[in-house]
Amino acid sequence: MMQVATVVNSKGGVGKTTLTANVGAELARRGRRVLLLDLDFQASLTHSFYRPADVERQIDRRTVADWYMAAGRRGAGPDLMRYVSWPQEVRAHTRRNGGELAIVASAPKLEGVAARLGVELGDPSSRRYQDRHRRVVMRLADGLRLLRREGFDYVLIDCRPDFEILTRSAIVASEGVLVPAQPERLATFGIRHLTERLTDFKKNNFEILGWSPSGENRVEDLAPAFLGVVFTRVRHGGGGPGPTPSSQRVIDEVRRLFPTFTAMMRESLDFQTGVDRLLPAVFGLRPDIATEIRALVDEFESRIGP
Ligand SMILES: Nc1ncnc2c1ncn2[C@@H]1O[C@H](COP(=O)(O)OP(=O)(O)OP(=O)(O)O)[C@@H](O)[C@H]1O
Ligand SMILES: [Mg+2]
Repeated sequence: MMQVATVVNSKGGVGKTTLTANVGAELARRGRRVLLLDLDFQASLTHSFYRPADVERQIDRRTVADWYMAAGRRGAGPDLMRYVSWPQEVRAHTRRNGGELAIVASAPKLEGVAARLGVELGDPSSRRYQDRHRRVVMRLADGLRLLRREGFDYVLIDCRPDFEILTRSAIVASEGVLVPAQPERLATFGIRHLTERLTDFKKNNFEILGWSPSGENRVEDLAPAFLGVVFTRVRHGGGGPGPTPSSQRVIDEVRRLFPTFTAMMRESLDFQTGVDRLLPAVFGLRPDIATEIRALVDEFESRIGP
């Protein structure tokens, strides 16, 4: 069964895209069929797998922005499968076990699309907001629902550092939400804020969608599980193995308060060179990095369930 997970944090630069690329790549290496969906108009995830020229040549008018534009105001829109592409560089690492890494790419024009969706959604206090919410915020969920027959095991959605319409659309389309966070001062504060927004949004969304006349919606369909916080860019050193003492203090504090993954992603330049080489670091030369990502993926699969 296809499982959808969204990677969110309204804080920028915490490693959302890097986590999405590496977790997706490792899942595919294990033989899973994985679809990555880039929902950020800066398209960092897309550019982790394609050179800019190749995006233009190979993807052209098949980005998620084009899908939204073609969907217009009609329900689920065209078949999302027509917007899927398969980057070449990772193929050698993923096909051995029958896995696959596919992507729905993004492009700068998604920014304009998001703005138009905002206009279409309008003011929550206005009449017919419920209908518009159902149409606008659920559009991606509807599109992904049609994809369920394509045999993907996982869809991972990479969001912008915000909590705007596209991010919310991804959340309602998901079974699980992953929150990458850096173990820094104020991390607890940021994570608390984010989890509160998530809870409020799930509640509002259920109030808007839960009581549909036909009663076809159930809260568990509309409310993804909080899979947990994943510590990213964790600095090691400071005398012993493992995180620096100051990082460890934050990690311990967050662990007392929120569901947290045991596995973490360390700070390493290898993640950046991975982007340059169009090959996620999990496929690189550093065994310690691969081990960390594999442990993270073990936990991810057990948390999101079969
Ligand atoms: N574990 C890491 N070690 C070192 N550098 C990292 C790591 N994770 C991410 N980076 C680098 O930090 C920068 C931001 O990472 P990334 O794009 O994954 O964050 P993001 O949360 O998706 O950012 P945004 O909020 O802008 O979407 C990139 O240059 C990336 O290569
Ligand atoms: Mg990003």
